[in-house]
Amino acid sequence: MKKIITSLAVAGLMVAGSAMAGDYSTASCKACHAVGKDTVGPDWKVIADQYGDAKTLAAVFKSGFKVEDRKLAASNPKWKAQAAIMTGQYASNIKGKEDAAAEALFAAVKAGKI
Ligand code: HEC
Repeated sequence: MKKIITSLAVAGLMVAGSAMAGDYSTASCKACHAVGKDTVGPDWKVIADQYGDAKTLAAVFKSGFKVEDRKLAASNPKWKAQAAIMTGQYASNIKGKEDAAAEALFAAVKAGKI
């Protein structure tokens, strides 16, 4: 029980400290992404530059986020080798919320932080 309460408190803090676009939270994305540098995953500024706008990114999310349709993974062997990590994130945090997720990414880039 104590463990559950601690997890909920940590999740709450993560949400409070993250950029929000509408009611979509980028808190979980922050574990692997930043704005302005690569971390576990690619720099969100680079992702935003590659896709151009939230609508274009949302369309790739909606079409199933296939590895061959991903602009970074399709052109960079380093990211392609790690595509399975992002496939899991897509299934748990983006699928069904594609527009909100894409808008949140662009909003974070505009704000300069996730
Ligand atoms: C556990 C680590 C991890 C988390 C958490 C994570 N990502 Fe990623 N992400 C990656 C890695 C690694 C890549 C590079 C592989 C790829 O592009 O498929 C990536 C790539 C991406 C790309 C670029 C895809 C391409 O290749 O063009 C987008 C967009 C993205 N992430 C969005 C998100 C969003 C939105 C969240 C939060 C819902 C998120 N990520 C959470 C690790 C993560």
